[in-house]
Amino acid sequence: MTRAFVTGWPVAHSRSPLIHGHWLSAFGIEGSYEKIAVPPEKAPDFFGALPGSGFAGGNVTVPHKETALRAASRLDATAAAIGAVNTLWLEDGTLCGGNTDAYGFAANLDALLPGWDGAEDVVILGAGGAARAVLHAVLDRSRARVRVINRTVARAEALAEAFGPRVSGHGEGEQRALLRHADLLVNTVSKDMAKAAGDGDALPELDSLPDHAMVSDIVYVPLETPLLRAARLRGLAAADGLGMLLHQAVPGFERWFGVRPEVTAALRDLVVSDIERVP
Ligand code: ATR
Repeated sequence: MTRAFVTGWPVAHSRSPLIHGHWLSAFGIEGSYEKIAVPPEKAPDFFGALPGSGFAGGNVTVPHKETALRAASRLDATAAAIGAVNTLWLEDGTLCGGNTDAYGFAANLDALLPGWDGAEDVVILGAGGAARAVLHAVLDRSRARVRVINRTVARAEALAEAFGPRVSGHGEGEQRALLRHADLLVNTVSKDMAKAAGDGDALPELDSLPDHAMVSDIVYVPLETPLLRAARLRGLAAADGLGMLLHQAVPGFERWFGVRPEVTAALRDLVVSDIERVP
């Protein structure tokens, strides 16, 4: 039996077991996908013990993605560029790390906002770990100039420094001016966005976006975030972030269980029901 896992701290909220469990039963594979909660101080030992543990590999979530990067003996180019590992697997006893978040982001937009990669001017809100994956995908798939806007401007500037001359870092005060030229706006900031529902001031100023602009939120709880609702009210094409979660799971499942699964409407419905039950 092939075994895989997701580890994080905490990890109880992870919906990955639902996704991989759905594919395991759809393919009739005798395998397992378990949640393993590992506190930060134990994470290096946990990753170090994976060769010979019987696991084929697993997913890594907050706060272990950088620890996993350091623990892996081999990294794929995407994980190295993003500076974080979300997928681990073993090759001849060697722990290998990859990052499928950028792939998941791009695959979701390919499905929901076809043509997104023709954008010439992209604005990303936030400069954390999620922003790095989005930035990698946008630079890889498009020719766009990317403006990263962050509350702490130094973090946005550090990201621009790390990702090269197509990227620039900005403070929130520049948002209105930058949105005026944006073809695509991507939000990666999760904290407090739900609270912003009743507080229009906390939302990006969507009225300054051009009419052709597309909007994407990588946050998927709630499925329709205040930002997406505002974008749709303004008549803009908008994509929720659930597909990023679903698509990022595809390459891992294929590596561990040997079959490439598909992101279907049935899978999406399953996860949507779960979000409705336990937001
Ligand atoms: P993630 O992996 O989800 O990106 P992270 O690395 O902790 O998480 O990054 C969180 C991002 O959300 C950061 O860009 C953070 O801004 P700061 O760098 O200024 O902290 C942003 N963020 C979190 N709460 C915010 C808030 N209330 N207002 C604006 N930005 C916020």
